[in-house]
Amino acid sequence: MITIIPKVEILEVEEKEINISAINIVGQISDFAKKEIEEFIIEKTAFKLSCSGYEIDFSLTCDEKNKEWYSIDMKDTKMSVVSFTEEGTYRAIQTIKQILSQKLFVLHIEDEPKNNFRAFMLDTGRYFYPVNDIKKIIDYIALYKYNYFHFHLTEDQGWRFESKKYPKLTEIGSTRSHTNFGFKKEEGFYTKEQLKDIVEYCHKRFIKVIPEIDIPGHTMSALACYPELSCFDRKLKVATHWGVKFDIMCAGKDFTYTFCKDILDELCEVFTDEFIHIGGDEAPKKRWELCEHCKNKLKELNLDNMEQLQIYFANYMADYLKTKGKQTIAWYNKFEKDDKITPNEDMILQFWGTKEDKEFCEIVKSGRRVITSNSSAYYIDLPYGYITLSDSYNTQCITGVQDNKSIFGYETCLWTEYVKDLKKAKFNMFPRVFAISEIFWSGENARDYARFLNDLDFCKKYIAKFGVEVPAKNVYNPKKVRKFFSKLWFEKRQLVWQGVYLNVDNFLLKNKVKKMNKKK
Ligand code: ACM
Ligand code: ZN
Repeated sequence: MITIIPKVEILEVEEKEINISAINIVGQISDFAKKEIEEFIIEKTAFKLSCSGYEIDFSLTCDEKNKEWYSIDMKDTKMSVVSFTEEGTYRAIQTIKQILSQKLFVLHIEDEPKNNFRAFMLDTGRYFYPVNDIKKIIDYIALYKYNYFHFHLTEDQGWRFESKKYPKLTEIGSTRSHTNFGFKKEEGFYTKEQLKDIVEYCHKRFIKVIPEIDIPGHTMSALACYPELSCFDRKLKVATHWGVKFDIMCAGKDFTYTFCKDILDELCEVFTDEFIHIGGDEAPKKRWELCEHCKNKLKELNLDNMEQLQIYFANYMADYLKTKGKQTIAWYNKFEKDDKITPNEDMILQFWGTKEDKEFCEIVKSGRRVITSNSSAYYIDLPYGYITLSDSYNTQCITGVQDNKSIFGYETCLWTEYVKDLKKAKFNMFPRVFAISEIFWSGENARDYARFLNDLDFCKKYIAKFGVEVPAKNVYNPKKVRKFFSKLWFEKRQLVWQGVYLNVDNFLLKNKVKKMNKKK
């Protein structure tokens, strides 16, 4: 009778169709939220509703409830909304907009999220997304009550964050001469003013921003600008192709530590929320194993291997961020709990494997804060042949720890190796973003796939109001043959990942170092 995605906690509907003429909101409401609902009613509904009933009641406090809690009652000719915070009111407004897009019934709703960290990640390193396109994406995720925007700002293929101290990062590092798929230059970066504008845009929608500077791996764009950041001071180019690169920042040179701290300083000036992401994924140790600086550092720290040196590097950055009042998030890398060094206890680890990862399950159960972005469900850069809508909705995040409070956060990631613009981003996002929002907001225990599939027709009509066309069912839930061809088409990427080039380059460098060492 009435559909709301993500599913609300309590929904009681009487089979009594009504017409309403006013909305009364009791609770704190921001000016922006007022404007949003008023404009929605004027532009996107056929109602002549008055929203004049705003009452800010400061006696309402949310000691017992989640700050995003709200209730909605509709009867006679009125809709009444109660919330405790501006944030709660803003989430209520997302529900109201869906209600006003359907037939109206007498109803009662009470709702709050089961998870307080519901993030969406956009990789702007592989492809540059203009500010207005980022804002569109933020509009979409706000509709589905996501509350964190993880802004992946640096990659092998492009450095997007303007630095005053290291201007070459954007003069050189923000451009790749061509891409995997064509000979066209790909370039762009965000000025600090633009980034502050994006932060403000998010905050109006009660979305916090987590910027990511991915270190020490995925840094070819920085190494191309400042060769002294690499082991062996190599003359490198901004990467043109996707794939894990062997050249990463040198963890033995003081300059690397100074550079990273300087960048973190500049990052903290722009991004005012509490979390900073320092990346740390896919950092092969081929260079570190050969490099005198890295080997000396390992010895000096009395560590056992280069993986531990990376943990030292991450802890060093996290300690620095702590002095600036920030909390650190890093991609999870395997470690043993009795290793000489382990990630700082308060560092939040972001898991991107699948639920079968036994070591990670142990970490979750140990009570450490973790974010899951299970890559068999929430990596929506992957084609529907790999992650169907059903996979996004039905995959259990981490075996044995469903809805466990120790899962600090949930995140869906839109990597962009193959998602070059907003049009493709929208194609990949919808309908999976609907499904994922429900798992994140309503919780894994509320899963009901049959009901969700029923609700999809409304979801498609509703999102069309915002200029998104959802592909056909045989695209997002493909059957065998289509699934096979979807995967095959995607895997053509294997032809252009430069694996042979990387391994030959590594072989030559190894021989050169061997010769150099002999001469000594
Ligand atoms: C990742 O997917 N490399 C975090
Ligand atoms: Zn080194």
